[in-house]
Amino acid sequence: MNSVIETAGLRKAFGSKVAVDDLTLTVGRGEVFGFLGPNGAGKTTSMKMLLGLVTPTAGVGQVLGAPLGDVKARAKMGFLPEHFRFQDWLSGREFLRFHGRLYGLAGGVLTRRIEELLERVDLLDAADRPLRGYSKGMLQRIGLAQALLNQPDLVFLDEPTSGLDPLGRFLVRDIIVALREQGASVFVNSHLLSEVEVTCDRVAFVKRGCVVREMALAEQAGDVTVELKLGHVDAALLAGLAQFGRDVRQVDGLVRLTASDEATLPDIARWLVAQGVSIYRLAADHKSLEELFLEVMGEDERPG
Ligand SMILES: Nc1ncnc2c1ncn2[C@@H]1O[C@H](COP(=O)(O)OP(=O)(O)O)[C@@H](O)[C@H]1O
Ligand SMILES: [Mg+2]
Repeated sequence: MNSVIETAGLRKAFGSKVAVDDLTLTVGRGEVFGFLGPNGAGKTTSMKMLLGLVTPTAGVGQVLGAPLGDVKARAKMGFLPEHFRFQDWLSGREFLRFHGRLYGLAGGVLTRRIEELLERVDLLDAADRPLRGYSKGMLQRIGLAQALLNQPDLVFLDEPTSGLDPLGRFLVRDIIVALREQGASVFVNSHLLSEVEVTCDRVAFVKRGCVVREMALAEQAGDVTVELKLGHVDAALLAGLAQFGRDVRQVDGLVRLTASDEATLPDIARWLVAQGVSIYRLAADHKSLEELFLEVMGEDERPG
């Protein structure tokens, strides 16, 4: 089997409150999967169902080839919760030892693993200080080390970059990239888009408990937004431009259209010149994940 997560119609209601309406998705082995949506969309509840921490009201799912909640499968997963309750009297090193033991690790293997991870999350210098003195970013990083203790095949990260400064976010991004290189699969919940954009192979947009769109980020490569600044624009010209793409529109003195391929650009330029129109600007940009997010969610649900 080549998928690590497969669900059909997962649903979770808390009384009359439906947190997750219908979660049907597949995550491939070795894939970095972004689960994106505004606060309250049902991301954390979905992740907890996949981890076996919340029992679904309806639907079925398999994670790492086992039914949801399977303990053996859970031992091969790592989890960085959104709101980690740290044992804050422990030092960073003790905290990792404690959690390593919970995974059944011990002795030299555990010690080596801890030192390796402390270095990877850049906390060797702070390893013997109690967690209560750690900054938010340091806590997030030690939490991430905790999620990787068992060398998981599948890692769940719930809002891993929230509250982090840019350096912390780069570090998280690098760790995600390294996990993929090692062949692990990563499931990331996020309402912040910039870092996720560069690491995810595929994303699902979730809104009010439903996946509203799922896409591979590479797929998006074709679609470009073309922006033109022209000497003269009239209705006939706009109509003529429609042969090169869709959504031809005039915004702030510029003409924009969506083309399916960058290869259209020279054709547009040749056509405009043939019409005798002066070109002051001709630019093409792929849509950022943030633009897609707004398009899918609607302007009322801006990312945080
Ligand atoms: N234990 C719970 N009891 C009642 N409502 C809950 C519970 N957990 C989550 N919810 C509600 O379900 C919705 C989805 O929450 P959550 O999964 O945390 O969303 P997200 O992680 O996308 O912000 C929210 O409206 C939240 O208030
Ligand atoms: Mg959440």
